[in-house]
Amino acid sequence: MSRLIVVSNRVSPPRQGAANQGGLAVALAAALRETDGLWFGWSGEETETFTGAIDYQTSQGVTTATIDLEPQDTEEYYNGYANRTLWPLFHYRIDLAEYERSFAGGYARVNARFADTLRPLIEPDDVVWVHDYHLIPLGLGLRRRECTNRIGFFLHIPWPPRRLLLTLPSHMQLVKSLFAYDVIGFQSHDSMEAFLDYVRSELGLEVDLQGAFHVAGRRVTAMVCPIGIDARAFAEVAQSEDALTMQDAMRKSADGRAMIVGVERLDYSKGLQERFLGYERFLASHPEMHEQVFLLQIAPPSRVDVGSYQEIRATLEALSGRINGAYATADWVPIRYVNQGYPHARLTGIYRAARVGLVTPLRDGMNLVAKEYVAAQDPDDPGVLILSRFAGAAEQLREALLVNPHSAEDIADAIAAALAMPLAERQSRWRAMMANIERQDVAWWMHRFTRQLAGGALGEPIAT
Ligand code: G6P
Repeated sequence: MSRLIVVSNRVSPPRQGAANQGGLAVALAAALRETDGLWFGWSGEETETFTGAIDYQTSQGVTTATIDLEPQDTEEYYNGYANRTLWPLFHYRIDLAEYERSFAGGYARVNARFADTLRPLIEPDDVVWVHDYHLIPLGLGLRRRECTNRIGFFLHIPWPPRRLLLTLPSHMQLVKSLFAYDVIGFQSHDSMEAFLDYVRSELGLEVDLQGAFHVAGRRVTAMVCPIGIDARAFAEVAQSEDALTMQDAMRKSADGRAMIVGVERLDYSKGLQERFLGYERFLASHPEMHEQVFLLQIAPPSRVDVGSYQEIRATLEALSGRINGAYATADWVPIRYVNQGYPHARLTGIYRAARVGLVTPLRDGMNLVAKEYVAAQDPDDPGVLILSRFAGAAEQLREALLVNPHSAEDIADAIAAALAMPLAERQSRWRAMMANIERQDVAWWMHRFTRQLAGGALGEPIAT
């Protein structure tokens, strides 16, 4: 079996007893262990002058190799091009996207640094798998350094519609750099179709029924490969002592009231403002539900150096304050707004105690919270998932209550419907979603992608 080299901006090696180890890290770690592979990326640290020195660490059979970047790199590449340019644009927010040449320059520089330091580590039989929008041009950088290995790319976030992408200076250069990969993976049909629309319309290429096209004598295959969670492990964690203790604590603190939960990084793509407005609409139109329900919104701050993130934080503070001010009573607060994160096990306890999971991003590549919320439920008495139709997960979780996250009325109606849903309907919706989450889990995702990258067949079609 070929050795797998995973490359991503952030590297999260398995840690002994780490409570909040994500499913992605666990799945990648398994593949890396199996093939004696390597996980390469940014250390998250800065150094005054870039040296290309690689820090190797081995933890639980997984070797990571990380490099430090200069402060200017972090500013222009990570805070700049990745999070001020590509992130908003790819989430359809061209109003927030900043197009600065210095950002594009920093992005190119850091990707070249990655290519320079990674290239000598790649052996002839290795398979390289690059992840996410921080590293789109890395494949081309490796090709330019005479790397002929199979190289794949997976985009964890949405791919934007062609007309939005056209607003990016040098959009064509960015798209063409993807043609250096053998396989390009997307979370959803929606994203892949947007990508192929650009490939056909702007570049005049012909795409075959397998999503493949030929360019500069190479065959490039686009595929849909929705990421999943480690459902079985997650359901086990949901039964752990930490989880059950937390579930119990939440039930007590809810004091008989139904809990609605939302959990995400504090990010404007997550639709938190619209969610609060939808919940406010629900309160306004259902006075009989006052004091019967509360929303627990967990939103740890993220990318705090970027202005749009500071703004959304201030907006949400004001909005939650206003709604609580308008509706709270001496012993009831309608929104519990929490800016800290929770370890995984405790989070599953929170999910399990919640009657409703409210997952309403305006745009999302996949959204794993939706899957985690479902996987954490008690099969005998499951909660209801309300899910944005604009999350990649909506292509798979058709039995959720799908909503338009821009419509406060839609959200309000869905909350009312979820709270009133009879047990039998909750169970049948939950079973259908859980079957999908278990079948198309994170191991399935990884094998589907790596099999295609190794030149194999696609296997089972994606359930939608
Ligand atoms: C999204 C991206 C990931 C990123 C994560 C956290 O899920 O797809 O690539 O790592 O957000 O964001 P951060 O900027 O903290 O790495």
